[in-house]
Amino acid sequence: MTPDFDLQRHNTLGLPARARFGATITQADELASLLSEAAARGLPFRVLGGGSNVVLRPVFDGVIGLMAIAGREILGRRGDHTLVRVGAGENWHRLVEWTIQHDLPGLENLAGIPGTVGAAPIQNIGAYGCELVERFESLVALDTEDNALKTFSRDDCDFSYRQSMFKRTPGRFIVVSVTLALPNAWRPNLGYPGLNTLASDTDARTIMQTVVTVRNRKLPDWRKLGNAGSFFHNPIVEADVADRLAADHPQAPRYPGADGRVKLSAAWLIERCGFKGHRLGSAGVSDQHALVVVNHGGATQQEISDLAGQIVSAVEARFGVRLVQEPELL
Ligand code: EPU
Repeated sequence: MTPDFDLQRHNTLGLPARARFGATITQADELASLLSEAAARGLPFRVLGGGSNVVLRPVFDGVIGLMAIAGREILGRRGDHTLVRVGAGENWHRLVEWTIQHDLPGLENLAGIPGTVGAAPIQNIGAYGCELVERFESLVALDTEDNALKTFSRDDCDFSYRQSMFKRTPGRFIVVSVTLALPNAWRPNLGYPGLNTLASDTDARTIMQTVVTVRNRKLPDWRKLGNAGSFFHNPIVEADVADRLAADHPQAPRYPGADGRVKLSAAWLIERCGFKGHRLGSAGVSDQHALVVVNHGGATQQEISDLAGQIVSAVEARFGVRLVQEPELL
């Protein structure tokens, strides 16, 4: 373990942060000894993947494990799917490219999402009409309560929109590998705006490239302007709340769900409150996309959190909808 471990390069918001100790994890069997070292010092232990969905406090008084377990393996066909097992430390987008190179389509709509494979199931990543759950078979995670490696099926993970059992029990499970199930009878998924002008026989590589182009146009690149992607969930509200909003604002986007509830666009609500391009010190809201909180350079966690608080209060006061932050405050 390295003391006074610098985390600024390990979070895509680029916030200045340090951990009491840090270590890089390249094999699952290193975890047990790191956990017992942390426990012996009475310190909490947390894993970071790409750091693309966290807001880091200036000091984490504990041990950070940087997840770097590698490996991509085609396990073979099972029924209608081909299974691919991937180490938790692999980069998500490079995995998407690799599956396309190996003629295994199915992940192309999820191209360009920052972060690691191990983080993908935590919040059931989703974009352009596809969610991880649709391509998920199982995962292996270390249960920090008894130091045992356990396998979790799709049902065990209890996925929903940007949610999973793992997100509801922060820190308890450490994902070491993920097995994906890619459809043998693949068909393009072109329903989402930005893809719906493509021909119905578009191949997966072209869809992947289009998704990357659309993302680059709409979302700031964290390498140039620190950010953690969408900073809030799209709120899911009861039908009467959505109807009241629609009565006053017929142009507000609404996505009805199967359960009668309605998903609203957080970006739209935030933009209507005047926050697009707004700055608070060195923190700001992207002028490209109102759902993305950015670090203009030198922002602190406090500035980011204060800005997020202003956004939540303003949207609640104006629309009666309470936004929930997507990245975890660590
Ligand atoms: N909109 C605005 N103002 C803006 C941006 C968008 O009013 O500044 C409106 C758009 O006009 C559109 C609606 O908001 O009607 C939805 O916009 P968009 O298609 O960009 O999607 P989103 O709901 O804002 C979600 C995900 C993104 C994902 C995109 C594309 C969440 C919280 N975010 O954003 O995921 O890339 O859909 O599928 O679900 C992430 O989670 O980090 C992320 C980037």
